[in-house]
Amino acid sequence: MGGDIYLDNAATTYPKPEAVYEAMDRFAREVGGNPGRSGHHRSLESGREVLRAREAIANLFQVGEPSRIIFTRNATEALNVVIQGVLREGGHAVITSLEHNSIWRPLEALARGGRASYTIVDCDGEGRLDLKRLEESFTPSTRLLACTHASNVCGALLPIEDMAEIAARHGAAFLLDAAQTAGRVKIHPEAMGVTHLAFTGHKELFGPQGTGGLYIAPSWEIEPLIYGGTGSRSERSVQPDFLPDRYESGTLNAHGIAGLRAGVEFVLEAGVEEIRTHEQGLTERLLEGFALIPGVTAYGPRAWERRVGIVSFNLAGFTSSELASFLDEEYGICVRSGLHCSPLAHRTLGTLRSGVVRASLSYLNTPEDIDSLLHAVRETAAASR
Ligand SMILES: Cc1ncc(COP(=O)(O)O)c(C=O)c1O
Repeated sequence: MGGDIYLDNAATTYPKPEAVYEAMDRFAREVGGNPGRSGHHRSLESGREVLRAREAIANLFQVGEPSRIIFTRNATEALNVVIQGVLREGGHAVITSLEHNSIWRPLEALARGGRASYTIVDCDGEGRLDLKRLEESFTPSTRLLACTHASNVCGALLPIEDMAEIAARHGAAFLLDAAQTAGRVKIHPEAMGVTHLAFTGHKELFGPQGTGGLYIAPSWEIEPLIYGGTGSRSERSVQPDFLPDRYESGTLNAHGIAGLRAGVEFVLEAGVEEIRTHEQGLTERLLEGFALIPGVTAYGPRAWERRVGIVSFNLAGFTSSELASFLDEEYGICVRSGLHCSPLAHRTLGTLRSGVVRASLSYLNTPEDIDSLLHAVRETAAASR
């Protein structure tokens, strides 16, 4: 076995910047209080820590009011808050054929319960969306357009600004799933016409697992999914109507949020543009290398402007799970095989039966990591001929 090379960052980033480990350790040992609950110094410091995280995220997304950033457990929870909130009274939603199950399954559950309906607009095999077809799928009862910013399978970016215009023309909410783009692509929801932005903390924001959140634009508030204690207006039986408390019932994952703050500050310091440029170099190196290996099929757009650093591929003669296991066992390379919780995207790419091997990069990967993967795939391909 060779080195330990981690290329499964679209599942969760590893390693995290050193400051993330330190922030979590410091919170656990030196702070420890429940944020927003008690009047003692540990609770107050914990609340300040959560506020600093909210401010860092608002800064990253250029959101004017940090209270519009709501913490959730992950992107899935944030997506559910919006999907179930917007369609509470029923209605129709439009999604694309690149969506993750965290958008598809909540909609399917609502549809099966007879509470809402939805239309899937097909993208082509390179992840391109036909905007005319998208607009034609809107009906007078369409309340929501929901889509991923970048496919977690082929890395294709969707034309968000154009989609936002279409949603606005039809008076629909526009929910952007930024699970794969927050921290690596510029996202300013207020300038982009995004009414609801769901993000996860543990991928390119470099926070720990169990963190994520949601931005809700003014005048696009919805009913919460969860009600309960917030440490505010405790004498009343009704949920507070102000943000973020309206959507943050129960004790927050303050240990995780402390780490997330450090992760977001790392991203802010490096700069999203610099992160994107670094990933461009690695992605192009990988795609150019794959093009020279007989038997390798790589998926997704070729042009960098239309993609992020998520590269899925197959090697002739191997199932995706065989190849991923071989790369781990023989070369110590971590990649992910199978369907990546996105059967719709695999149907779009024509890989629903085979699955693919996904190599996903982070800012902390190096050209040497890419060369190790290329070397391993080249050697495996040569040995199997
Ligand atoms: C596009 C996309 N949306 C949503 C999610 C869900 O993120 P989480 O597991 O953090 O809820 C993922 C996770 O891989 C994803 O890739």
